[in-house]
Amino acid sequence: MTNAIVSVSKESRLFEPPEAFAAAARVGARETYDAMYRRSIDDPEGFWGELAAELHWFDAPKTIRQWDPPKTRWFEGGTTNLSYNCLDRHVAAGGGDKAALVWEGEPGDVRTLSYTELLRETARCANALRRLGVGAGDRVVIYMGMVPEAAITMLACARIGAIHSVIFGGFAADAVRDRVNDAGAKLIVTQDGAWRRGKVVALKEHVDRALASCPSVEHTLVLRRTGNPIEMVAGRDLEWTETVGVAHHECDAVPVAAEHPLFILYTSGTTGKPKGVLHTTAGYMVGCYVTTKYVFDLRDDDVYWCTADVGWVTGHSYIVYGPLANHATVVMYEGAPNHPGPDRFWAMIAKHRVTVFYTAPTAIRAFIRWGDEHPARHDMSSLRLLGSVGEPINPEAWMWYRDVIGGGRCPIVDTWWQTETGAIMMAPLPGAIATKPGSCTVPFFGVVPKILRHDGTEAATNEGGYLVIEQPWPSMLRTVWGDDERFRETYFSRFPGKYFTGDGARRDEHGYFWVMGRVDDVVNVAGHRLGTAEIESVLVAHPWVAEAAVVGRPDELKGQALVAFVTLKSGREPTDPLAEELAELVSAEIGKFARPDAIRFADALPKTRSGKIMRRLLGELAAGQAPKGDTTTLEDISVLAALRTDDE
Ligand code: WT7
Repeated sequence: MTNAIVSVSKESRLFEPPEAFAAAARVGARETYDAMYRRSIDDPEGFWGELAAELHWFDAPKTIRQWDPPKTRWFEGGTTNLSYNCLDRHVAAGGGDKAALVWEGEPGDVRTLSYTELLRETARCANALRRLGVGAGDRVVIYMGMVPEAAITMLACARIGAIHSVIFGGFAADAVRDRVNDAGAKLIVTQDGAWRRGKVVALKEHVDRALASCPSVEHTLVLRRTGNPIEMVAGRDLEWTETVGVAHHECDAVPVAAEHPLFILYTSGTTGKPKGVLHTTAGYMVGCYVTTKYVFDLRDDDVYWCTADVGWVTGHSYIVYGPLANHATVVMYEGAPNHPGPDRFWAMIAKHRVTVFYTAPTAIRAFIRWGDEHPARHDMSSLRLLGSVGEPINPEAWMWYRDVIGGGRCPIVDTWWQTETGAIMMAPLPGAIATKPGSCTVPFFGVVPKILRHDGTEAATNEGGYLVIEQPWPSMLRTVWGDDERFRETYFSRFPGKYFTGDGARRDEHGYFWVMGRVDDVVNVAGHRLGTAEIESVLVAHPWVAEAAVVGRPDELKGQALVAFVTLKSGREPTDPLAEELAELVSAEIGKFARPDAIRFADALPKTRSGKIMRRLLGELAAGQAPKGDTTTLEDISVLAALRTDDE
């Protein structure tokens, strides 16, 4: 881990919440936020107990919070069901006719599901899962595109206490195989194919390849979406229409214990083994519900659109669970933002009269590149609030988002959180907190972030350091699936008793937080956080490759682009076709989004005496900078010199 993190940002603009927005907001003044925040820290039991009581419990919790670092337990003694809280609760209250999902397919087809309809489809799916032998605690992998059935399957799993693990549809067969095997999944729910930029992503084909070595899987359930020819293995592979389609449309939600596992979501670690972040039911439910309510300031007539994929945690918390628990109308879009043209998102905002729009900085940078004429062609006056997530948003992109998309009138909520945190941890409440471009501002209720120095002492104002969280929060990950020790080691060993986020940050003179990104070697490409080790292990699997080190370099569009430094086995010569072949290999094994932008051949890689590759130095080289900082642990300084000459 590197030493103190230097901050270079000089941003100082401040934007107060618009008066009209604040007047109608749930939290309309800084003092109200301050009082609520104070109470959430001084009286967490009372604070969270009251918010939890807004949801349905079959049995009320007996305790609110337990904390025995690194383990936390919330709402113990309570039984509830997240699917019930997202669906049945609203239907029972007379809100069944409201649109729950307004889904738009990439080809332009639109499907609207009311809360009543979404409940019926979820119940059918839950009954079908049961018939396939899926019960409480069983793992179901969902490997789908952005179709309503992905959300329906998630809700159906939650309904019967099964644990879902959604695998991003951009992953290739090997990545699917590793995740399915780690989870020990019984069932894979997938599609023939998914639409992406007018082309078919052959999901079922990938599943077939993965299944050659997934012994735990008994069945696949296949939705027909694109109509591409697929192979169906008799007895193993089942059609959605013949299974879910014919199932009964009622299925009682199973009361599960508060700490019953809800889902596993794989995130990149620094070793090649996928890391299954485990979230449990009640704490995650309360966290998503409360953050959605306050950060997006949801009102009954909002039309809310989060552009994330359900394969990432943002899709779990802020397409499916948070908004539905709040009885929101959620827009869900299947395809690419530039299909058929670069104005697809803006056309959709105009068409569906979207009021709250939540996207990622990498997307915003792409929109900027595509040109202002595209949003200008559409009426986006329905928008009232904008959100950002996934990486630090650069002030230029923030200002563009505010002016061009938000017409200068919409507050921006820059939301900092992680797969592991389950729900938003820092963000401005839009009616209460003045914003600064590039800062996620202040902590959400109950969150105690601290910036620490290397030695664990607290950093001074504006001094960069390690971002940790001191108190437990309801939606905190509970463990790494099947690996408690990895959980403890990854998050609680760097600063004992405190959750280490892995991010660097500083806190300014107003108490605002500025997250500066990961302090380790995980790279964030177009909003996808990638462990370099997984990519490296693909590269070294090539018979000619000796060693590989993958680093990120700043990229205007993607946030970071991947550069792979590769050394070859003796007697092998670096060539352009070989570089192409290696990049293609990564694309095929992990997914297109992980394809390195550059492959750089080297005679040797810089290593520490203990043999660890010094990725930090490579990152600096990849960014075109002279390696700075500490090189004293470098085994052989001439290696670095050689790499630099190569660069010229
Ligand atoms: C990492 C988490 C949270 C859902 C999407 C990514 C970075 C995320 C912000 C933000 C600065 C951010 C951090 C974090 N990040 N949001 N608003 N400002 N950085 O989830 O894949 O678990 O990645 O993304 O580095 O640790 P994830």
